[in-house]
Amino acid sequence: MTDATSTLDNLMHEERAFGPSADFAANAVADASRYERAKADRLGYWADRAREVLTWDTDFTETLDWSDAPVAKWFVGGKVNAAYNALDRHVEAGNGDRVAIYFEGALGDTTTYTYAELTAAVKKAANAFESLGVAKGDRVAVYLPMIPEAVITMLACARIGAVHSVVFGGFSADALRSRIDDAEAKLVVTADGTWRRGKPSSLKPAVDAALAAPGHTVENVVVVKRNSEPTEWNDGLDKWWNDVVLTASEDHAPVAHDSEHPLFILYTSGTTGKPKGILHTTGGYIVQSAATLKDTFDLHPETDVYWCTADVGWVTGHSYVAYAPLVNGATQVMFEGTPDTPHQGIWWEIVEKYKVSLLYTAPTAIRTCMKWGREIPDGYDLSSLRVLGTVGEPINPEAWMWYRDVIGANAGKNGEKKEHPAPIVDTWWQTETGSHMIAPLPGVTHTKPGSAQVAVPGISIDIVDEMGESVGDGEGGYLVIRDPWPSMLRGIWGDPERFKETYWSRFDGMYFAGDGAKYDEDGDLWLLGRVDDVMNVSGHRLSTTEIESSLVAHDKVAEAAVVGAKDATTGEAVVAFVILRGSAEEGEDIVTELRNHVGKQIGPIAKPRHVLVVPELPKTRSGKIMRRLLKDAAEGREVGDASTLADPSVMTKIAEDMRK
Ligand code: WTA
Repeated sequence: MTDATSTLDNLMHEERAFGPSADFAANAVADASRYERAKADRLGYWADRAREVLTWDTDFTETLDWSDAPVAKWFVGGKVNAAYNALDRHVEAGNGDRVAIYFEGALGDTTTYTYAELTAAVKKAANAFESLGVAKGDRVAVYLPMIPEAVITMLACARIGAVHSVVFGGFSADALRSRIDDAEAKLVVTADGTWRRGKPSSLKPAVDAALAAPGHTVENVVVVKRNSEPTEWNDGLDKWWNDVVLTASEDHAPVAHDSEHPLFILYTSGTTGKPKGILHTTGGYIVQSAATLKDTFDLHPETDVYWCTADVGWVTGHSYVAYAPLVNGATQVMFEGTPDTPHQGIWWEIVEKYKVSLLYTAPTAIRTCMKWGREIPDGYDLSSLRVLGTVGEPINPEAWMWYRDVIGANAGKNGEKKEHPAPIVDTWWQTETGSHMIAPLPGVTHTKPGSAQVAVPGISIDIVDEMGESVGDGEGGYLVIRDPWPSMLRGIWGDPERFKETYWSRFDGMYFAGDGAKYDEDGDLWLLGRVDDVMNVSGHRLSTTEIESSLVAHDKVAEAAVVGAKDATTGEAVVAFVILRGSAEEGEDIVTELRNHVGKQIGPIAKPRHVLVVPELPKTRSGKIMRRLLKDAAEGREVGDASTLADPSVMTKIAEDMRK
């Protein structure tokens, strides 16, 4: 398989482009008038969308207040409840019997929630959390697998006005504790565990470990019984979900919150060692995530079945699992398991079973399926699929074409092909942007393999050079956002200075995304990966510095340097170079020990694929580690110009060792 990023680098012009079929274009939710309207009156456009996708308790009086830039206020004066919009109003409109969630458990168990049932479940959870002392503005840490209770918990928080902070279940106890502490969470909602590849995998012990040391702010831990593995019980803190939530009342009146009321914090990796708590507020976030789901996926809520494979621990699982589908009244599939269990066709079995029409996943998953072979999806009827989305990292044209030909053109298990394969929508956005920023409109755009293409209507994207000047067609530079957008982050929790410094100091008056990008000759956008110390492993953001800090914190490590090396399946892989302390012994044991140490401190996803013990790191005379050279070695390339190193022989030795 061709390597993801080098293909992009080498690709100067993509000749292929696929327009929508006449039928698709004629029935599309969004046509070209979206662009015209947004161009003519950007704020007016967003005001219209805000009133279209949400039912406001009190209408807003001002669309955007940018007087306190870079902290925006959107839909000022408006009052709204996100959970009411995701739930009650659909029931009130007579759609209570529509399926909200088809849940497919890791062991093949299933549960279906209609909108009426999900509304009742969220009301119970809201009552239960309130009875445990959670009030508007309090923070709730959520550490759950991909089960409906995750969405129920998030919506219950939104209903009360409590701020959820979801911590991905793959993060360690240490990572959970630091997030609990940073947000001063009052309640933790977790589960005994889930299953990974058919085997029980626990979550509750990590919560116990996280809360073992005193000095935390947690008053209660609510535990969902999921895999029924035995768990320790702390009488003072722990309550079973079944005891407090299932017994609570089904009556709960939603309170309208200010449009700018905090909705959630989601921690993400930055260029320093400490994860940033990205803060999103209510009105703008919901408006843009709901509007973009509708447009980018051509969502027809009455007939479509939507499935986003992202975990709720990531932003995609927030915007495009917990909120936007429900706000739009859509029917969605939620899957607890992994794509290889019980067999490598499970995803396609689920698509066939529920007649999924809109599928949203990550390039790394597509590349994994490519590796497994097309015979697997060819064995299922995927004819229901209408739109295929991708997110999280650049998608190489080969994977894009495979997605289109093998998944999007499948017209049944008999090998027939659709005349018009499902359009592919590559969506670029970030935890910070809250929702899609660059994405095609499937009924309008002629999509090109590998390109995310155009800014979403009403979004001002640009690519600039070092000096902040726009570059021309055929040129590359830094991706920036020129105007505030509704679902933009409102800050970093507890650190306003870091917010300004990270995103707003690089270019005057522009949001700096941290991504490199280029325009092709047609003016379409291509994403080229991060330009900072953030790595992207299987679509998950990891910080070079955070992993380095973790390694250096190990008592056998003197120094460490970490790079993201290209990987054909995961996009990038973590490679660490470490110098051991004098007394420590080299060998297999130390490598395993260090990998496990990072796994414990941050989480299994951060474990380096390779740890290479080196006698010295390549440093300039001023002591700066030249990671660029380490990346060359890690990727098995000829090492670049090492002449500025204090000792150029260091790199020769590392490159040799790397080849062994
Ligand atoms: C990368 C995920 C290329 C990018 C929603 C960004 C992408 C980071 C794409 C954000 C895409 C996301 N094409 N790169 N379609 N989507 N990225 O915060 O580097 O987990 O800055 O949000 O992922 O990752 P995050």
